[in-house]
This record gives sequence, structure tokens and C-alpha cells, in this order.
Amino acid sequence: MTETTPHGTGSTTQAGIPAVSDRNSLTVGADGPIVLHDHHLVETLAHFNRMNVPERRPHAKGAGAFGTLEITEDISQWTKADFLQPGKKTDMLARFSTVAGELGSPDTWRDVRGFSLKFYTEEGNFDLVGNNTPVFFVRDPMKFPHFIRSQKRMPDSGLRDGTMQWDFWTQNPETAHQVTYLMGERGLPKSWRTMNGYSSHTYSLVNAAGERFWVKWAFESQQGVENLSNAEAERLAGADAEYHRRDLRDAIAEGNFPKWDLYFQIMPYDEAKTYRFNPFDLTKTWSKKDYPRHKVGTMTLNRNPENFFAQIEQAAFSPANMVPGTGNSPDKMLLGRNFAYADAQRYRIGTNFQQLPVNKPINPVHTYNFEGNMWYEHTGARSMYAPNSFGDSWSDETGPVDNGWEADGALTREAYTLREDDGDFVQPGILVREVFNDAQRDEFVATVSGALDGVQEPVLSNAFQYWKNVDATIGQRIEDAVKANADGAEVPGMGVDRDR
Ligand code: HEM
Repeated sequence: MTETTPHGTGSTTQAGIPAVSDRNSLTVGADGPIVLHDHHLVETLAHFNRMNVPERRPHAKGAGAFGTLEITEDISQWTKADFLQPGKKTDMLARFSTVAGELGSPDTWRDVRGFSLKFYTEEGNFDLVGNNTPVFFVRDPMKFPHFIRSQKRMPDSGLRDGTMQWDFWTQNPETAHQVTYLMGERGLPKSWRTMNGYSSHTYSLVNAAGERFWVKWAFESQQGVENLSNAEAERLAGADAEYHRRDLRDAIAEGNFPKWDLYFQIMPYDEAKTYRFNPFDLTKTWSKKDYPRHKVGTMTLNRNPENFFAQIEQAAFSPANMVPGTGNSPDKMLLGRNFAYADAQRYRIGTNFQQLPVNKPINPVHTYNFEGNMWYEHTGARSMYAPNSFGDSWSDETGPVDNGWEADGALTREAYTLREDDGDFVQPGILVREVFNDAQRDEFVATVSGALDGVQEPVLSNAFQYWKNVDATIGQRIEDAVKANADGAEVPGMGVDRDR
């Protein structure tokens, strides 16, 4: 006799049919074998096997929230982008992350933090996929996969490895500026709310008159910038691996909405040709004395996701998503990133990832890309090709693009042409000598020397030389500290296993 224990209205299969039991599979007698036609059991097991999608590589561990960008100033002299006009309020999504760690890794390992933003504008989605630092490790996209692999895990042991990390950094001296940031106090933010966000790259802007400008975006935390000590970060990595994720969620749940003020650093188009640093080199900043920051507006995060997987894990940010009035620059890294993200997302989420609610633009989509896995927003009988004779609109702009730039020369494989102040160690040297104070320099020496503990030769000596190139005194202090610690100091909070 069938017995029913009511639990609400029960559940259904994925086809909406009443699911008879979520507790007992269908068997031949109470102790007998399970039958294959127990569709509900088969579906439950099969779907469970497919719950995971590949994690992001890199930036796997993160979380985020929804909010609004409000433009408080008139910056129409630089851009015609609709969402950047005075008084505009645009809904947006932010996702913060660590770079090297995997999905379950502790939030408080020393690392650069991702600062990804998606603005749902009326002209399509504009994504700014930045970090909490204004520079990056390398300046050619060819090096990016090598860089990430060196920061991830050893092929044999599956362990992270300081020698591999430092080998990459010291073999590529352009990393010095970013590594100095990373080993400084901003390498361990107290929370995502207390860090700034940067476009890092130089992007372009175009105004209504067709005039072009170069721009760097900066989001300054209204909460102030606060960081963790090595000891506190290390403790939290064990005590609460989700420390940053929890902090953001709790703050928003309590109505304590984090805010960032948006600033633009603007460089007139022609000045880029002769600026003393290559303004498109991602390992460099622009001096704020040369190019001061201009306030643009304020971003507020005020709504937690209702479902982490649907709205954060499946969120897809891409630097290629740019709206009219904004654009690329000759930064080779940015141009490489234009390809990489959507390609990763087609693999990670699926061909039609842009149809998912979190990724879907608020304006109508009229694409000539059709079908593929999970094609959901169907286009009825609309023409599948352009040009067509049946009134389906298509685009046909010709001539120079308004957000372009001039380039000429034979195809070549070369590094950027060097400018007057373009040395790899110039800006990190300034950071160490002029930006850090004495206490920050002491902490920096402790952090770097700790992170060098266990690093093998010849990489260790290369690392001493790398820091001496940044600053002779700091380099010597680091070498002395490593030698004094030779009996084995703790590596502060990078999640690195020191046994090779
Ligand atoms: C050529 C250089 C680079 C390449 C090829 C690259 C590639 C990638 C890829 C494939 C992902 C995973 C995307 C996904 O699965 O959704 C990713 C994530 C990310 N990258 Fe990059 N990246 C590069 C440089 C940078 C730089 C310079 C920054 C910051 C200025 C950056 C910031 C991020 C952030 C914040 C994420 C996480 C996105 C999210 O929150 O979903 N990347 N990168």
C-alpha cells in the first residue's frame, strides 16, 4: 500500500512530473536491487555528476554583489558614452577575487585581488575587469599563461612552489613593479570593501565631437584602504577561509553598503606619443602630477546575489565588452584580453552564456550569431544572414573607427620601444623609497624575505639581485634577512608549500 508523508507539495522531476520519493529509490522488494527505470534516481545521480562547471582560470575564488553606478560630474568633454553622462544611474554587478588560488582557497592568502565590474547600460554591457593594483606583472599577452602556471601548482606534486614563482618573476624583470605592490601592505587587503579598484590598462574615450582621449579608471574606496598584517592573514586563512566573501555579504545584508568613488586620469590623445613612460605599458602608472584624477561618480553595492552559482559563478566579465564612447588602446595585454575572456566563458559556461540572466544586456540583442548549446532566446523566423532582402537590420559602418589609433610598420615580434623613463626598476624603486614609510619598508622586507624562504638556487640569488635593482638598500636588507632566517621562517600567507 502506498503511504504518503506530506512535505509541502512534494517535489518534481526536472520535467515537472511529481517525483515520488526523494529518500527511497525503487527496488525489487525492500532489500532487492535497484531498477533502471527509476527515472528520478537516475536523473538525480546524473545531474549531480554535472553540477560542477570548470572553475575560472585564473581568479577562481571570489564573490560579488549587485549595485549602481551614479555619475555625479559632467565628463561629456571626454566621452559620449551614455552611461557616463551626468545624473545617469546604471545597474551593475561586481565580483572580487584572488588570482592564483582555486575555488576553495583561503581569501586571505597574499595575492592581487580581482575587481570585475559589469555595467548593464542601455547601449549594451560595459565590463571593466580590473584589479586592486594599478599595474600588472607582464606586458605581452604571450607571457600570461606562463605567468599563471608559475603561480599555480607543480606538475608532479600538485603543490604551489616559491621557487617556480620567483623564477618567473626574476626571469621577467618587468614584474618588479607589481611584485613590489604585492609584497607591500596592499597585497593583503583587510576586506574587499577596503581596497581600491583600477582599470590598470589605459583605455580610450571618444566624445560627441569625435575627439579621442586616453584614460585610466580608478575606484577609490569610501571605506578607506585597510590591510591585514601577515600574522592576521595567516590566522584567518585557517580560521575562516571565506573571510572576505562573508564580510561583503554581511555588510550588504546589514545595510552597510560599500561605496567607491570613480576617478578618471585623462591623457590628451597626442601626448601619449611623447610621454616619458610608455603610457600603454601595463607595468607602469601615470604620474598623478602629470595627469591628475578627475571625479566621475560613485559606485554603491547594495544587493547580495540570491543564488551564488547562477549570478556569480556563471557571471562572465570580458574586457572586450565596450560601449560607444569607450574603447581599446595599443596596450598589447588589453588587446590579448579582448580574445581570452569570452573564449574561456564559451568553454566554462557554454556557447550562449550571454543569454543567462546575469550576463544578459538590458537592451535588445540583434545578433547574427545563432543556435548552439542552450540557445534559449530564440529569434523565430528572423533572417539568418546579412545582407538580406527581408528588412532585418544589419550594420555596415565603413571608414576609420572613432575609437581607433594610428599604427604602421612591418609585422614583427618585439618588445615595446623603450622611452626615457621606461626602466623596469624605476617605478618600483619610487614605490619603495618615496611611497612606503619606514614601518611599511620594514614589513616589506619581512614579507619578501619570508616568501623567499626555501627558494632554491640559482633563483634565490636572482631574487636578491632583482630587489637590489629595485633599490640597493632594500635588496641588501632582504638578502640579510633571508640569510638570518635560513633556519626556516614561515612564509607569510601565500599558500606556498616550500618543499620541492
Ligand atoms: C593577456 C593577459 C590576460 C589574459 C589572457 C587573462 C585571461 C583571463 C581569463 C581566461 C580569465 C577567466 C575568465 C572566466 O573564466 O570568466 C581571467 C579572469 C580575470 N582576469 Fe584576466 N587575463 C589577463 C590579464 C589580466 C589583467 C591585466 C587583469 C587586471 C587588470 C585581469 C583581471 C582578471 C579578473 C579580475 C578576472 C576575474 C573575472 C571574474 O571576476 O569573473 N586579467 N583572466
